Amino acid sequence: MTRVLNIAHRGARSLAPENTLAAARMARHAGADMWELDVAVSADGALFVMHDDSLQRTTNAAQRFPDRAPWTFSGFTLAELEQLDYGSWFSESDPFGEAAAGNITPAAMAAFRGEPLLTLRAALHFTRRHAWQVNVEIKRLPAPLENFPVAAAVVAMVDELGMAEQVVVSSFVFENLRAVHALNRTIRLAALTGLVETEPQLPDLPLFGVNPHYVGLTDGAVRGLRARELAVLPWTVNAEDEMQRLIDAGVSGVITDFPQRLQRLLGS
Ligand code: G3P
Ligand code: CA
Repeated sequence: MTRVLNIAHRGARSLAPENTLAAARMARHAGADMWELDVAVSADGALFVMHDDSLQRTTNAAQRFPDRAPWTFSGFTLAELEQLDYGSWFSESDPFGEAAAGNITPAAMAAFRGEPLLTLRAALHFTRRHAWQVNVEIKRLPAPLENFPVAAAVVAMVDELGMAEQVVVSSFVFENLRAVHALNRTIRLAALTGLVETEPQLPDLPLFGVNPHYVGLTDGAVRGLRARELAVLPWTVNAEDEMQRLIDAGVSGVITDFPQRLQRLLGS
């Protein structure tokens, strides 16, 4: 039986600040087979890694640039983004309680302070250097970058680095998947879906897989998708009983904030 993939959501974001190299290192250390990240674009067109439209939650943008509320990333140049701290918020808030539980040392928490910007190029370099795998999620970009050709820019970088076999591109915006497919037919594509319907609406593309929200994902829905030779990679599954239910249902992988927990469950 093929091993269920352990996929670290935004890196091991329970153990380190999300979407940073620190989180990617933690995910590797935890034994993840792949990490997941979100692509953002600076005002001057640089690709970097960030989940929210606003920089406020996961950086010190509000302190560094107090008059730039709501700190939407698309309004900041790469040079400005490079001035921010992507780790102190995590050290201060311990968002998943893992430091309080004794699973992150005080020294490690302190070391996250000043964590630098992660560019997509650096994220890909890290993935390549470690012969690892990455799920690159392309979201809809905030104004004024709604029409920025982000999928084409991602493909160009993946091609330049010769990494098509190490990358899965996922998106809720199927137009992005179509754009990737038009430019490179070897990059694996995964359609992101919300709460699962028995028959999810999927794009007419040769998909590698589907990344459905795990809530309501029934055994029958998993079987149906697998019967269509689609990988099924539910997100974001953090509770062990739910991980086990989905593994028993036959998913191909699990996207989780706790790759350390999933790894224990997978028994390796
Ligand atoms: O890929 C699954 C998941 O990352 C999608 O949701 O909001 O965490 O990017 P979000
Ligand atoms: Ca994501």
